[in-house]
Amino acid sequence: MSSVAPTADWVDPPAMLRDPYETYARLRALGPVVRVPAMGRYLVTGSAACRAVEADQATYSADVSGGGATMARALGAKPMLRKDDPEHAVERAPVNAGLRAKSVRAAWAPRFEHNARTQLDVLRGQGPERAELNRDYAAPVAARNLVDLLGLPEATPEAMERWSHAFIAGIGNLHDDPDIWARCDAAQREVDDHLDALLPQLRRHPDASMTSALVTSGLPEPAVRANVKLTISGGMNEPQHMITNMVWALSRHPEQRDRVLADPSLWPVVFDEALRWLPPIGMYPRETTRATVLDGVALPGGAILGVVIGAANRDPAAFDRPEHFDIARTRRAHLGFGSGVHLCVGHWAARIAIGEIAVPRLYDALPGLRTDTRRDEAWFGWVFRGLTDLPVTWD
Ligand code: HEM
Repeated sequence: MSSVAPTADWVDPPAMLRDPYETYARLRALGPVVRVPAMGRYLVTGSAACRAVEADQATYSADVSGGGATMARALGAKPMLRKDDPEHAVERAPVNAGLRAKSVRAAWAPRFEHNARTQLDVLRGQGPERAELNRDYAAPVAARNLVDLLGLPEATPEAMERWSHAFIAGIGNLHDDPDIWARCDAAQREVDDHLDALLPQLRRHPDASMTSALVTSGLPEPAVRANVKLTISGGMNEPQHMITNMVWALSRHPEQRDRVLADPSLWPVVFDEALRWLPPIGMYPRETTRATVLDGVALPGGAILGVVIGAANRDPAAFDRPEHFDIARTRRAHLGFGSGVHLCVGHWAARIAIGEIAVPRLYDALPGLRTDTRRDEAWFGWVFRGLTDLPVTWD
């Protein structure tokens, strides 16, 4: 038995940029899969339905019409994220080993510590009346960590940030805005210039970086370059936003902040609960390869789906009191890193860099750290969502 997807003709995408959570709740109330004409797609908002999509690549392809071509245009070739297995696995396998928890701790944790310390000096230098956590700490820490993980020593944190934004804009440039392509093409050229110098060196002297793993795997060079650029676009904003999201969540829940400060072994739990509650990626796309039934809802072949992990992470069928930030909750298996074969390859790097190092060191260094409610904070986005301004203060 299957039912027709309900239609939500009231969805207002610009309003979702300010705050998507009310829309998510209304969509979930209609059912796990809803047709949204304003977006020309079906939104999958139920936790079980999102997992079912990721468990069946043969029916739900990541090689989305239009989106795949735009991503290939933005990054020079189609990267692993827009491929299904077995082609996807060929590009992903080389980087898996170096990004396991043990490898990340051995190779990168000291660099993550160094980067956090460097930016703490900058943040402290701004003082408790002027410090802005996103600008002074979150963005540069994320950029410095990515410079290290990718092994691009000549790249500045500022360049990394600029490239990341240019690639993300290009990946989303479905309407071919020429200014966006101009910025994206310039970023491609700059990254390619770095890689022209770096790839021959890495072939001779491999190191622990992701770029080294890709280039020594025997992948064709366009695939190496496209996956480096994919990582530049995907490995910067999300860790950045998790730094500010964690501080924002703890500032609003001082009793939970006091618990983690008294028991630092809780930091990984705080990271996970903040990622469930406020995931930096709200939605990603898939396309049906044939007519199918998803969690009881009939879908045609060629349907574009938005897998709305931002909504699934607050599904009452999966979590008790899902709208609450609660580090004591018992069921915590959220979708903030995706699931299935495209589960974020950098999830251990992010957990360690942000959850174990960047955020705990902030609280170690700045007693009484909290958001500064005398100054304005700002959130933006829903497909990618984060704080663009987070004034902070301390005692
Ligand atoms: C808290 C931080 C992060 C979050 C929330 C996050 C989230 C995600 C999600 C949801 C996906 C799946 C997207 C999809 O299926 O369409 C993904 C994939 C990916 N992420 Fe992350 N990510 C984070 C950090 C990182 C970092 C630090 C790196 C780089 C080291 C990275 C590199 C990637 C790559 C390359 C993929 C594609 C994997 C594949 O296609 O197999 N991410 N990420």
